[in-house]
Amino acid sequence: MVLTAGGFALLLQSLGLSQGLSKPSPGVRTGASPVQSKAALTSADSSVRPNGVVVPTDPTITGAGGRINDAASNCMVDPYDAYDWGYPGFPPFDQAKANVYRYRQQQSVNLGSWFVHEQWMTPSLFACASGDQLSELDIASGWGSLDVARSVLEKHWDTFVNISDFDYLAGIGINTVRLPIGYWSLGPVFCQGTPFEPVAEVYQNSWSRVIRAINMAGDAGLGVLVDLHGAPGSQNGQPHSGISDGEVNLFDDDSYINKTMSVLTFLMEELVNTTNVVGIQILNEPSNADSLPAFYTQAISTMRQISLASETFPLYIHDGFNLAQYSDFVANRSDFVVLDHHSYFVFTPGDVAEPASEHTKDIRGSISDALAAASSSQRRNLVIDEFSCALTDQSLAGETSPDQARQDFCQGQMDIYQNLTAGWAFWAYDKEDCYDDPGWCFKAAVNRSLSSTFFSYGDRPVADPSSLSAMADVVSMATTSPQEDPTSMDVQNPPGSYTPPVSSTAAVGLFPYSARSRIPPGEVLDGSTSLAKKGLDGRDDSDPLPSDPSERAISKGYSDGFVTAKIFALYGMSKLGFTGQYIVDSLAKLGTEIIAPGTEHYYVQWFMEGLADGEALIASAVADLP
Ligand SMILES: *[C@@H]1O[C@H](CO)[C@@H](O)[C@H](O)[C@H]1NC(C)=O
Ligand SMILES: *[C@@H]1O[C@H](CO)[C@@H](O)[C@H](O)[C@H]1NC(C)=O
Ligand SMILES: *[C@@H]1O[C@H](CO)[C@@H](O)[C@H](O)[C@H]1NC(C)=O
Ligand SMILES: *[C@@H]1O[C@H](CO)[C@@H](O)[C@H](O)[C@H]1NC(C)=O
Ligand SMILES: *[C@@H]1O[C@H](CO)[C@@H](O)[C@H](O)[C@H]1NC(C)=O
Ligand SMILES: *[C@@H]1O[C@H](CO)[C@@H](O)[C@H](O)[C@H]1NC(C)=O
Repeated sequence: MVLTAGGFALLLQSLGLSQGLSKPSPGVRTGASPVQSKAALTSADSSVRPNGVVVPTDPTITGAGGRINDAASNCMVDPYDAYDWGYPGFPPFDQAKANVYRYRQQQSVNLGSWFVHEQWMTPSLFACASGDQLSELDIASGWGSLDVARSVLEKHWDTFVNISDFDYLAGIGINTVRLPIGYWSLGPVFCQGTPFEPVAEVYQNSWSRVIRAINMAGDAGLGVLVDLHGAPGSQNGQPHSGISDGEVNLFDDDSYINKTMSVLTFLMEELVNTTNVVGIQILNEPSNADSLPAFYTQAISTMRQISLASETFPLYIHDGFNLAQYSDFVANRSDFVVLDHHSYFVFTPGDVAEPASEHTKDIRGSISDALAAASSSQRRNLVIDEFSCALTDQSLAGETSPDQARQDFCQGQMDIYQNLTAGWAFWAYDKEDCYDDPGWCFKAAVNRSLSSTFFSYGDRPVADPSSLSAMADVVSMATTSPQEDPTSMDVQNPPGSYTPPVSSTAAVGLFPYSARSRIPPGEVLDGSTSLAKKGLDGRDDSDPLPSDPSERAISKGYSDGFVTAKIFALYGMSKLGFTGQYIVDSLAKLGTEIIAPGTEHYYVQWFMEGLADGEALIASAVADLP
């Protein structure tokens, strides 16, 4: 079931915790049991982790509730001479590419426990952590000294995910990653006046690592959603917000609110002109405090004021486990604000006991209905940016084939999220002992609980779409003049401003014909003849659009939709995902002179027709590839 506020409260109660778990802890998760994890930790050959950290071999000093003697000699680490990345900066901004990254359908994974640690995912970094050994702060204040803690973290930042990982992801059709960061990741200045102040220097080289991560993703053609997982004061009291004291102090403390605004301002200033940054997520899984909507409103307006570019930049908010409430919030706005809803099936008492096949039925039934309603009311500005294949042992116990049941469950989620939302992100890409945990570890789930590829079109990588002569020819004949190179189209302007020249005779067969044949019956407007005439006459950039306003909206809508399908395919075989937002932003860009008030619905309807025709052509061209 979708984790509602009520369900969440019930869960906390049932677990006897003052703070809930929206991420697994050893007591709840399935896959590797705590016992298995501990066994792996203590086996002889794993006493030195891949990141060079030597973990204690005495099982009594690790594990939940265990305490570490910080001074113990088994907390020594190999010295790590961190490469000085300096301040790498970003490549020059490319607006056309950024539009595709930001508006496309996202197949994504979370790079969890890279910049925000979770004990169950990267236990080796907690081996010599301080205090409760649960959160980022415990690592930074552990390991005997700030220098050693910094070495441990820098080595992890430099090795946990590398360019081979991004290439692998791109090679199986993942086109986006969600990158959880904490405010501490921005550097020592942002730690002042927070619990991280005493350990601020540990983070002196962390922001350059975040930039490096974004650039590595970009080199592989992946977009990055930068997600503020830990805000000053903590937005949810969870260890994955950076602290172990369980306190939610953000919403009732002005100084923390102000600090969070500074963090978000910094992120916007740094990232708005980064081509492959697809958005900033304002908060991850906040408590649904009474003031959360006001907080979001303040954050959004603060971030929008920074520059012209920031006005249209995508901002993501999490629904605080109340989909309906924040769906209204997004529906009430017209700017590029996206709702993130998380979907897990192992945390409420009901979910823990429910058979896997029933979960799958729920997903294809009531959950699908709820997501469909939300998505359509908020112009598809909805993503499921955390989900997994995890099921409890209890859920799987009654199934005749547990593997099949898990596959059906995962496939059900994929089908629904892909169809009804603009994207999904698996939690998480990697973790220690990944291959023991196909429920939570993407690398282990691929081609096991999940399919083997995730492309928007087809099931194979299409390295260079412009080399697909079949597709490129069909699409370019349909939408461009013969001399125009389809791979170097001018799409510098924001979406919708591109007016396709339709002067080639080939265009007549595809573009105006489909439009003509689809004029709704009973339409007053005599669109059929005039559209056909425009097409037959040929029309280039200098030709006016039809003078009749309704006809103009139809013609422009259809051609924009068709060309959009093409432009997105030419960049990494992408598909438009944030369809409604793209149309809204296109209409704003076109202005009322082109799309007259009262005719927008024609534009919208025919944009969708053009898009569907374009996507169908591309899909069939891809299917025909040898
Ligand atoms: C990336 O890390 C993996 C181990 O996780 C390693 O096998 C691979 O060689 C690394 N690639 C690069 C380019 O460093
Ligand atoms: C927070 O910012 C507001 C507006 O800039 C300011 O009026 C207020 O004094 C600040 N509060 C704190 C505690 O810094
Ligand atoms: C981003 O680029 C735009 C246009 O090139 C420029 O006006 C703006 O100052 C840049 N920086 C920010 C923070 O918006
Ligand atoms: C959305 O707008 C409606 C009408 O103005 C208002 O009643 C409602 O409270 C708003 N909902 C949210 C969540 O902002
Ligand atoms: C998803 O959409 C496709 C294409 O419209 C359709 O064939 C398929 O049945 C849909 N799947 C689900 C689970 O709704
Ligand atoms: C997926 O796994 C099957 C065996 O279960 C194997 O035959 C196949 O080659 C794998 N596919 C990929 C793409 O790895």
